[in-house]
Amino acid sequence: MLKAQRAVAGSRIIGLGHYQPERVLTNAELATMVDTSDEWIRTRTGIVERHIARDDETVADMATAAARAAIADAGLEPDGVQLIVVASTSVMDHSPNVAGRVAAALEMTSPIIIDINTACSGFEHGIAVADAAIRAGQVERAVVIGSEKLSAITDWTDRTTCVLTADGAGAFVLEAAATEGEIGVGPTVWGSEPTMSRAVIVEDETGNKFTQDGRMILRWAMSKASGITRDAVEAAGLAMDDIQVFVPHQANLRIIEPLAEQLGLTDRIVVTDVQVSGNTSAASIPLGLSKWWHEGRIPSNAPTLLFGFGGGFAYASQVVLTPNREP
Ligand code: ACO
Repeated sequence: MLKAQRAVAGSRIIGLGHYQPERVLTNAELATMVDTSDEWIRTRTGIVERHIARDDETVADMATAAARAAIADAGLEPDGVQLIVVASTSVMDHSPNVAGRVAAALEMTSPIIIDINTACSGFEHGIAVADAAIRAGQVERAVVIGSEKLSAITDWTDRTTCVLTADGAGAFVLEAAATEGEIGVGPTVWGSEPTMSRAVIVEDETGNKFTQDGRMILRWAMSKASGITRDAVEAAGLAMDDIQVFVPHQANLRIIEPLAEQLGLTDRIVVTDVQVSGNTSAASIPLGLSKWWHEGRIPSNAPTLLFGFGGGFAYASQVVLTPNREP
């Protein structure tokens, strides 16, 4: 018989951070680059502007900035966390992985370093992995980061995709919850839709550029998302009425708004950061929530429904509580 590590009750979120590059790209500017218009982009996607990284700014640089902010927000030094999980689908340098680059940049001693690529649902997969490691008693604290430089994998001559994509990063710090009453991360409902595995593509045949079947994804979201998110709420032992904040993947306002309507969440706080940040894939959920939290738009200890979906075709959803303090 082997000895197992001592398990703890669960985990909770104690810090949120984010980073966006300085450069803002407006719809008007895009209309000078491809055959599009501010009106088309706003009505089809809700996006007004987005942030684009400098040429020399990497996925790891943005991940490090978001992690640094989240760790400081939690009142910790970098060595206060023992696990780094990074979700990204726009990494072109594979080793050291992004988590390893973050560990080096933050001058940490010996953290566990894990990268995850499940595209737009990568961050929620990261929360599941970090929560499991904490619950198993392997680490006391973890930082989960979503970071993307989609501008580097965007075909800037393709109007069907270049109006959507953007860059940025967001991060949460998770800590062990000693008692059941302190648990702030619910079970993850996660999986994939293998028949749609090619709905989102970034590969050599397309010159490593992002392409997607937007219509197919819209249809999937409208028919499948409500069931997955309802399961996540039920798994957390809550009812939809208990949810105070809804943060779906920030892909398109035309998915976010009808989904909130399907779930009866239109009178709650629905994060719509996509309007000023565009689609930042794995970064979109932590970036949007962290921004709104630090702007004072999100209550503390609030049941918050996260739902990521996209490339793979993968999805993941869980309910988390925002930190039990003022931002
Ligand atoms: N400007 C002007 N016209 C355009 C543009 C543009 N930027 N892009 C496309 N068009 C045209 C098309 O050529 C087409 O013209 P046609 O009718 O003459 O052929 C017309 O507009 C309609 O194009 P559609 O692609 O059918 O537009 P749709 O209404 O489906 O909107 C969109 C496209 C915004 C991509 C939408 O399908 C969508 O958001 N889908 C969901 C995507 C998603 O959620 N992905 C998430 C996972 S992947 C990830 O996040 C990385």
